[in-house]
Amino acid sequence: MKKLKIFITGASSGIGLTTALHLLNRGHFVVGSSRNPSRLTKDLLKERVIRDHTKFRVSREGKVVPLSVKLPPELKEIDDLLEVLRFIPFDPSRDGSEKEAARDFFSLSGGEIDVLFLNAGMSIFGPVEGTDLSLVREQFEANLFQHLKILGEFLPRMRERKKGKIIFTSSLGGLISIPFESHYSATKAALERIAEGLRIELKPFSIQVAVVEPGDINTSFNLTTAQTLKTAPPEAKSDELSRLLQSFPLAEDSPYYQRAKNCWNYIFRSLLLKPSPSVVARLMVKLAEKERIAFRYRAGDPLQTIPVWIGTKILPQRIIQWAVEKIYEVDRG
Ligand SMILES: NC(=O)c1ccc[n+]([C@@H]2O[C@H](COP(=O)([O-])OP(=O)(O)OC[C@H]3O[C@@H](n4cnc5c(N)ncnc54)[C@H](OP(=O)(O)O)[C@@H]3O)[C@@H](O)[C@H]2O)c1
Repeated sequence: MKKLKIFITGASSGIGLTTALHLLNRGHFVVGSSRNPSRLTKDLLKERVIRDHTKFRVSREGKVVPLSVKLPPELKEIDDLLEVLRFIPFDPSRDGSEKEAARDFFSLSGGEIDVLFLNAGMSIFGPVEGTDLSLVREQFEANLFQHLKILGEFLPRMRERKKGKIIFTSSLGGLISIPFESHYSATKAALERIAEGLRIELKPFSIQVAVVEPGDINTSFNLTTAQTLKTAPPEAKSDELSRLLQSFPLAEDSPYYQRAKNCWNYIFRSLLLKPSPSVVARLMVKLAEKERIAFRYRAGDPLQTIPVWIGTKILPQRIIQWAVEKIYEVDRG
């Protein structure tokens, strides 16, 4: 098998980190990005992978009990894999950071790139009405504009070589709007339209483009939400559920208070019960290695991915809305 040269944005935790390790396990050359790689010790990264592969039991009140850790066979040699995982800085909020990231990547890879995973992302939380526009801009910067910046630096090399793949981490939340995370859903829907157009534009250059739409995955994604909103302290941990539930951002006099709170509680409880990022990473490995790839893929708990996928194709909007309101518990309060 050919050793591929791969760059993954947002590889410091969750889906990006686990994908990087699965790809390294297959012998590929992998470089990841983080806004602040100097913090990333081997112990911290290992702790994150183990957390994301821990099965939890979660009570309605927010009590979390870790049950077992299930590292898949691909991550058996996790210490060795972490030893060879390289990071470069990329911080989209810093002007010119994408140029430095491309320069750093190409100096490590000998000027070549085979697969670009545009994976970094986060979600804010709040109603459409009243959410601070600077936060909304931050949301679009994190989930859309940063990818465009990286594309601008990496595409010329891919076009010159007339080969390469670009794989975006989208979300099932780009197909339906997650209540009180509709800004997030809007960024993922926009990302998918960009990816569709890009696939057509890049066809003559033999560069393939795909989107992966994960369902809910057990990562620290929600912790970043609470920290971005500055309601959870930087030292909070993603399995400290009762602390995170208390970091709910809306004031009690908000007209959305109770329904948004039900939704927040549901989202934070439920992510801990979902599959590990290895279910996404296995798909990412297949896409990197396959000769020809389709445009759209899903990964996650089939009880979630299949109904959303089929439902959004065949069901009327009122049924979809009814199901979303029930699932996210925004039908009461
Ligand atoms: N977990 C889920 O349920 C789920 C479901 C569907 C889609 N996704 C998508 O999967 C991707 C990865 O999420 P995850 O679940 O793995 O979350 P995660 O564990 O929080 O990882 C997010 C990664 O993105 C980077 N990041 C976070 N905020 C950023 C920002 N403002 N600017 C630049 N980089 C930022 C982080 O790197 P640094 O902080 O080190 O820079 C980190 O490596 C995201 O695009 C997310 O939308 C996740």
